[in-house]
Amino acid sequence: MRHLLSTADLTRDDALLILDTAAELARISDRPMKKLPTLRGRTVVNLFFEDSTRTRISFEAAAKRLSADVINFSAKGSSVSKGESLKDTALTLQAMGADAVVIRHGASGAPHRLANAGWIESTVINAGDGTHEHPTQALLDAFTLRRHLRDGEGDLTGVRVTIVGDVLHSRVARSNVLLLHTLGADVTLCAPPTLLPVGVDTWPCTVSYDLDAAIADADAVMMLRVQLERMNAAYFPSAAEYSRRYGLDAQRMATLAPHTIVMHPGPMNRGMEIAADVADSERSVIVEQVSNGVSVRMAVMYLLLGGAESGIGGIA
Ligand code: CP
Repeated sequence: MRHLLSTADLTRDDALLILDTAAELARISDRPMKKLPTLRGRTVVNLFFEDSTRTRISFEAAAKRLSADVINFSAKGSSVSKGESLKDTALTLQAMGADAVVIRHGASGAPHRLANAGWIESTVINAGDGTHEHPTQALLDAFTLRRHLRDGEGDLTGVRVTIVGDVLHSRVARSNVLLLHTLGADVTLCAPPTLLPVGVDTWPCTVSYDLDAAIADADAVMMLRVQLERMNAAYFPSAAEYSRRYGLDAQRMATLAPHTIVMHPGPMNRGMEIAADVADSERSVIVEQVSNGVSVRMAVMYLLLGGAESGIGGIA
């Protein structure tokens, strides 16, 4: 199996294989010599049509730790700004012998198009497409949840995760709901009605509009960024009103159970969906999520490119 496009494509066993492999690779990353020769001679292209800090850097670090050659492509400063199409960009990458293409694109479905149009033979890894999916973010979130709430082993059966905020524009929310459900977690989405997508009632989760009720029993609270750059209308009366009803501040955090962790995929709007003192608190695992992203992305590339015997069964 060749691509990672959606967490919907992962069976429970696929997801556990990735998480277990990431745990093994994390142990290697703690050593002074972090590199493995696994992908020596293979070329990974980071194809980013949208801005990124965490995802792009951690894919690059992950590929380099596996000894792959890495080419970073940013749409800004490339021939895309002259109007070059995704197809012609893909054909160029194919001509350069890319073994894997890690793609972030503003259009939902762009990674599927790249994987299925027959333009390239490479493995395609979705690094975030529009408001659709961000599967490696969900995997690193599951890895972090498992470490804190299940001693790093097994699935997430019975773990209660509340995801809060701008679900409408979030690719992280969809990928997380699908993956966490596959791993047995109970997921609640909490948002104002205007920031929930049409059809959310068909997602495998509970929906709430009341943040205080939604976090009361949570084992983990995952705050989502309010994606102001994707908003072309007034989805809430004001930033202050949004923060009051859907922001996590110190007062709300004090109502959480002692073991409950606070997560955020980043980048954060400090003072809006999450207060600075919450983001920097001992409950926050936000920086650890970034570190775990390297191990999880190493595992995904290792399993997809490392040979048939290490492949992920259910990946499309
Ligand atoms: N979480 C995430 O995707 O962050 P970046 O946009 O910085 O990659």
